Amino acid sequence: MRIYQMKNYDEMSRKAADLIAAQVIVKPDAVLGLATGSTPLGAYRLLIERYQKNELDFSEICSVNLDEYMGLSAANAQSYAYFMRSNFFDSINILPENTHIPNGLEEDTVLECDRYERVIGALGGIDLQILGIGGNGHIGFNEPGDAFIPETHCVELAASTIQANARFFASRGEVPTAAYTMGIRSILQAKSIVLMASGKAKAKALYRALRGPITPALPASVLQLHGNLSVVADEEALSDIKATSTDKLP
Ligand code: GLP
Repeated sequence: MRIYQMKNYDEMSRKAADLIAAQVIVKPDAVLGLATGSTPLGAYRLLIERYQKNELDFSEICSVNLDEYMGLSAANAQSYAYFMRSNFFDSINILPENTHIPNGLEEDTVLECDRYERVIGALGGIDLQILGIGGNGHIGFNEPGDAFIPETHCVELAASTIQANARFFASRGEVPTAAYTMGIRSILQAKSIVLMASGKAKAKALYRALRGPITPALPASVLQLHGNLSVVADEEALSDIKATSTDKLP
């Protein structure tokens, strides 16, 4: 694992944008696994700026998003589909048909999970997966549990996740209680992973993810098994972690 210890949110965003931009330049038809949440927003903004300066071309890029709330349509301003369009896709030249996200309106969960697995398979897997981390250690919406769930599945959101995400909704009661999420296998099969974290609120989860036992009780801990993991985090998020000789701290 490589840990990039950045000063603050802006520096974290710059480094993550650098790593994503490098992927897009090296492989113009790469498959990007994308995340929502406030953590990657700054990186998306910087990538848009580089696209506007003609430094990046997304015309052959495909994307698969990690997750989507159940019950929200892509037109709903709180959906992750809407988030991705308004914060990234609408401002770059990625083709809408090359962007993929679970369909939150599909009530047949078996059908939708199968469909999404086939989408990921048909793309040939993910080249670069961007991840944030939940305060409880979730990745995508893989919540703490008794087992790692390998494939796309429908999940009941943890109370702490509903609470944390309530800031994006008018009230806590409006936060969906279930979601579709990519499973652990697709995440781990990504050729490379960039795990982003910012702020003191993530310090404990990040410590347990990188230094604790590998356990489904802290889903992000499974990332320790990945051979090409870059952790891009700011000093506050890394405040519980001391670098060891096996980490490459640039
Ligand atoms: C959400 C998303 C995750 C994200 C996490 C952290 O629940 N499903 O993919 O990583 O929250 O969000 P934030 O970056 O806003 O802290």
